Parts: sequence; C-alpha cells; structure tokens
Amino acid sequence: MRTKQLGSSGLEVPVVSVGCWSFGGGAEDYWGQQDQGDVNALVDMALDLGVNYFDTAYGYNEGNSERSLGEALKGKRQRALICDKTPVQANAQLFEDKLVEALKRLQTDYVDVLMIHWPVQDQELLATNLLALDSACKKGYVRFAGVSNFGVKTMELARELGVKVVANEFAYSLLSRGPELNVVPYCQQHGIGITSYMSLMQGVLTGKYDSIQDIPPRRRRTVQFDGLKNPLVGQAHATPPAEDEVMEVLRVLKRLAPECRMSVSQLALAWCLDKPAMATAIVGCRNTSQLLENMQAADAALDAGVVAELDRASQGVLDKMGGTLDIFGRDRIW
Ligand SMILES: NC(=O)c1ccc[n+]([C@@H]2O[C@H](COP(=O)([O-])OP(=O)(O)OC[C@H]3O[C@@H](n4cnc5c(N)ncnc54)[C@H](OP(=O)(O)O)[C@@H]3O)[C@@H](O)[C@H]2O)c1
Repeated sequence: MRTKQLGSSGLEVPVVSVGCWSFGGGAEDYWGQQDQGDVNALVDMALDLGVNYFDTAYGYNEGNSERSLGEALKGKRQRALICDKTPVQANAQLFEDKLVEALKRLQTDYVDVLMIHWPVQDQELLATNLLALDSACKKGYVRFAGVSNFGVKTMELARELGVKVVANEFAYSLLSRGPELNVVPYCQQHGIGITSYMSLMQGVLTGKYDSIQDIPPRRRRTVQFDGLKNPLVGQAHATPPAEDEVMEVLRVLKRLAPECRMSVSQLALAWCLDKPAMATAIVGCRNTSQLLENMQAADAALDAGVVAELDRASQGVLDKMGGTLDIFGRDRIW
C-alpha cells in the first residue's frame, strides 16, 4: 500500500484507510448491525495489506466502535495506527479522564492520533480542550494531535496556542469540494495533513444508485440534496440543492471508469488521492470485498485529462454549495 506522511508528523500512513463508524453498531445505530466476526476479518485483511490506519471515535456508537476495534486488534496493536476522536469536554481533567476510558475500550495505552471531533463556538472552552490535547501528547497517551471539522479560524486558534496539529479530518469528495476554497490552502501552508471522510459520500459515489430517489433518505441528508423532499430533514438547506449536478458527476464517473479500467468507487477515490494535500482517504468498509475494491484506488495514476474532466463535472456542485464546510448544513465549522 502506498503511504504518505501525515502532515508534518513524520508518521507514514496508507493513502486509503479504514473508517470504523459502523464497528460495534447495533440494529438501532446509524449503520445498523455490524457483525464482530466481519470486523475481525476486515481488520486482519487490512493489516496484511498495509492498510493499517483505523479511524474511530467515541461518537461512533457511543464507544462501541472503539471497543470493537480494540477487540479486533487484540495481540496486534503494534501493527496498527489508531486515530481516535473525542467530543469537547467541560474541563481539562474530564478530557484526560475520558481519554483514559477510551484507551481502556481500545485495549491500549496510547493512540497514534487523537482529534477533537467537532469544534465549538466558545473559543475559551475550545482552547482548554486543545491545551488538554497537547498535554495528553506530552504525557504519552497520544503520539500526535489532530482536529476534525476545523475551519481556518479554529485551526488558527490551535496555532496561536502553540498546539502542533498534524491532521485535519473533514468531508472531502467530488461532491463536497468546499474545503478547497480556504481550508485546504491553510492546511498546505501549515503542514497539516488532510484525512478525508465521506469520500464515497456514504455509497453515493460507488455508482450503486441510479437516481436521487434510489438513495436512502439517511444518505441524502446532506446539503447537495433537497432537504424539503427528505423526511429526515424536512426543511430547505441554506444553499440550493444540487441534485442535477450530483447526477452529472455520477454520469461522468460511470463513463470514465471503464476507460480508466476502474470501478466507479475506485475512480472517485483516486480523484481525491490525486490532490497533493491529501494524506489519506478514510473509507467506511463493511466487509473485506469492499476493502479490496477500495484499496486498489491507492495505486491508480490518473491521467491529467481525466482529473480535469472530473474537476469540470463537479464544478456545478461546488458552485451551488459554495464554501460550505458542514455538509450536514448545520453550520458547525468555523
Ligand atoms: N470526522 C467526522 O466528523 C466524520 C464524519 C463521518 C465519517 N467519518 C469517518 O469516515 C468514515 C467514512 O465515512 P462514511 O462511512 O460516512 O462514508 P463513506 O466512506 O463515504 O461510505 C461508506 C459506505 O459506502 C459503502 N461502500 C464502501 N465501499 C463500497 C464499495 N466498494 N462498493 C459499494 N459500496 C461501498 C458501504 O456501505 P453499504 O455497504 O451499507 O452501502 C460503506 O459503509 C467513517 O467510518 C468514519 O470513520 C468521520
């Protein structure tokens, strides 16, 4: 597996990595029931293939994703890189206590990267959490500090506090290019690696849905889709929907994929990986066959003409969304 350096950390990470949101899920959870046997098989195969970066969070099934990953990595911890994420805590002591609990769930005594999952508007509270993260690094609980869903203002706060952030994890795909306007240039300038999530837009960019109506409501809650037509949203997003533009991206992907000898998923991921600031694309894989398909995007060398065509095809979505960073339309990224 091809690797890249994670920002200025010196840590080499595989360019495709495993999203663990579904791990430990029960019937009522976002991704539904996830079998631990499938998780174990997926993690074993990923480690054997060099896909050794695993992205989890307390927020994924209330600690059960961390538990499930810890279980799958039993006896193999040293072969893996774990990125965990924590919600903002009320004070520094609580931050450390919650981290120690997370380490127990993960059956380890350190994580390779710890991120603050989402920023808050209260800058004093955010500063307390960033400094607590820095302190966790100095105490050896965490090797490198990261952030997730941080915009320029909050990354700048970390810099002013002297907290060395090596990665920012945010939504980035052909259907969510808003970060290109400000966030990506800031990351490039300051040695912050990009770890993208939803690079397959929860399956939409695999090409398995032929029309907007085919996409399950949960997977079209985001701002590219019409909130008024979605019972789970029930209101218009702040920016106009871009459903025709989404279909145009899918049409072009489906046309180009066979020419590039790739599947639609592989081409969508290869487009992300072609961007120089990208460190790793985190992909949610539910089983070993999805992992095998997705990881093959890592070695694809895309022709410049193909990249330009995909850039052009996705410009319409970008124009409608503008610089929107919170693709759920909740304006929580500053
Ligand atoms: N930091 C954050 O705030 C944040 C937010 C969201 C996600 N994340 C992270 O990013 C990871 C990935 O995001 P995501 O899981 O939301 O979405 P995603 O990676 O865009 O989509 C993953 C889903 O697409 C389907 N899929 C994947 N590969 C496929 C293939 N080759 N063929 C067909 N279907 C395929 C699978 O679902 P089905 O088989 O059920 O269709 C899979 O669960 C998460 O697991 C999590 O670690 C982080």
